[in-house]
Amino acid sequence: MQASTISHKPQTVGNIDLSDLQWETWDKQTEALERISDPETECLLYGGARGGGKTHLARLYGLLRACKYEGHKVLICRRSFPELERNIIVPMRQTWPWLIYQERHHRFLIPESDSIIELGYTEGDYHRFQGASIDTLIIDEAGQITKDVYQFLRSCLRTTNPLVKPKTLLTANPGGPGHHWLKKLFIDREPEPGEDVDQFQYLQALVWDNPSLVDSDPDYVKRLEAMPEAQRQAYLMGDWTALLGSFFVPPPPQTDCEPFTIEESSCEQYLFGSLDSGIRHPTSFGLLFWDKGRIYRLFSYLNSGGTIAGHAEEIRSRIEAFPWTHGQFPVTIWADSSMWTEARLNERMIRSQIDEYKDAFQGTRTRFEKATRDKTFSCMITQQMFSGRESYPEYVLWKGTNHGWRESITLPEIDQNHPESYLKCDGDDVADETRYGCMGLWAWQNRLKQGNVLQQKARAKMNKLKEKDWYAL
Ligand SMILES: Nc1ncnc2c1ncn2[C@@H]1O[C@H](COP(=O)(O)OP(=O)(O)OP(=O)(O)O)[C@@H](O)[C@H]1O
Ligand SMILES: [Mg+2]
Repeated sequence: MQASTISHKPQTVGNIDLSDLQWETWDKQTEALERISDPETECLLYGGARGGGKTHLARLYGLLRACKYEGHKVLICRRSFPELERNIIVPMRQTWPWLIYQERHHRFLIPESDSIIELGYTEGDYHRFQGASIDTLIIDEAGQITKDVYQFLRSCLRTTNPLVKPKTLLTANPGGPGHHWLKKLFIDREPEPGEDVDQFQYLQALVWDNPSLVDSDPDYVKRLEAMPEAQRQAYLMGDWTALLGSFFVPPPPQTDCEPFTIEESSCEQYLFGSLDSGIRHPTSFGLLFWDKGRIYRLFSYLNSGGTIAGHAEEIRSRIEAFPWTHGQFPVTIWADSSMWTEARLNERMIRSQIDEYKDAFQGTRTRFEKATRDKTFSCMITQQMFSGRESYPEYVLWKGTNHGWRESITLPEIDQNHPESYLKCDGDDVADETRYGCMGLWAWQNRLKQGNVLQQKARAKMNKLKEKDWYAL
């Protein structure tokens, strides 16, 4: 596909021949340039999905405005300096090496039009822009900033040239601290007092609107397609409502299986547990069996009130009495790392929650291990296991022994600031505990694989030594 060029493209501005700017645009980007050039439009939000060519357009629009008008001032912003450098400064310097870059001031100079492109970041004290006057404001990834910051920057938008209308170009994907205000203004079209909604335009760009990316990295689209449903809807389809709702989509009930007796030798090796202990919130425990890349959740324990020691005793006796596993104990239980925090109970006694469990499990082979603190990564692993591999479910519930698990796992909502994770809420105990188990088993399995590889290497080395003809030396 050929990139199109916009119809009203001027040929020269000042001494600059604009055909040197390499400003080919794809159709959607051309439409964006046309929409923002409309005299009625003050602000355009461009995007709504990943990879649509938003940042490319942001850089180009900044340069076009700075070249087109004499003495023009453009501000291009990102949330942090590293993001600004990676996405704006470096590509601009590479694409247009003739621009004069003043590193100390983070700005490009265009002597031909006597214009400036300032490069700013909003993290930290954004009031450093106080008193600045800008003709064109561009915020790349506006979803990363709050409305206060946007309004402050917008207050710097004023021009001394009566022939130039100040413009704002925003780019954003759903999600982030700015999700709500962007959705309200541009998607739901509910302005706040003083905002004329007709001046705010939205143009959606999807990844397919950017053939540069689709052609050069076809796997990019596949990666977006493989994301969990909510993120896929948001990032691939640009759906601004998708990130509302439950974070976890549990495996469908038809993948549940009837309990079966597990061989004693398998119990000895592949029985595990996960635990989230609560004082003011419920305690959640799951007994897990690992078999052929699949987790079977054998039973769930979810109870509130009582004492920590009481829960520990109860969990122990339920494991012992469980009819399908010969009273065997899990090899490892992954537990919330905060359970290791010690508290002074009196003059002579310091105890942690895990001590209560260790006492209750005394004489068994169970080891307690701190569960991961990496919430984002463990969320990803858990979601991956819930989705399974092709038609092979990786997380299977035993029927009749996991009451309430499915209802509880869907309680936490997507954290719109960090869509890869969920918000803390009352009732997230089951989600936390389940995630500890998935992550623990994932890491355990990888350690095993690593061990096997090392063993294989050692064996291969040994075989090589054996084959060597020592007499020929
Ligand atoms: N008109 C174009 N000509 C050539 N390359 C382009 C064009 N538009 C976009 N690209 C390239 O496509 C890739 C993705 O574009 P870009 O980074 O602008 O997308 P984005 O929408 O900002 O993505 P994200 O959602 O990840 O921020 C980049 O390598 C960019 O340089
Ligand atoms: Mg971008």
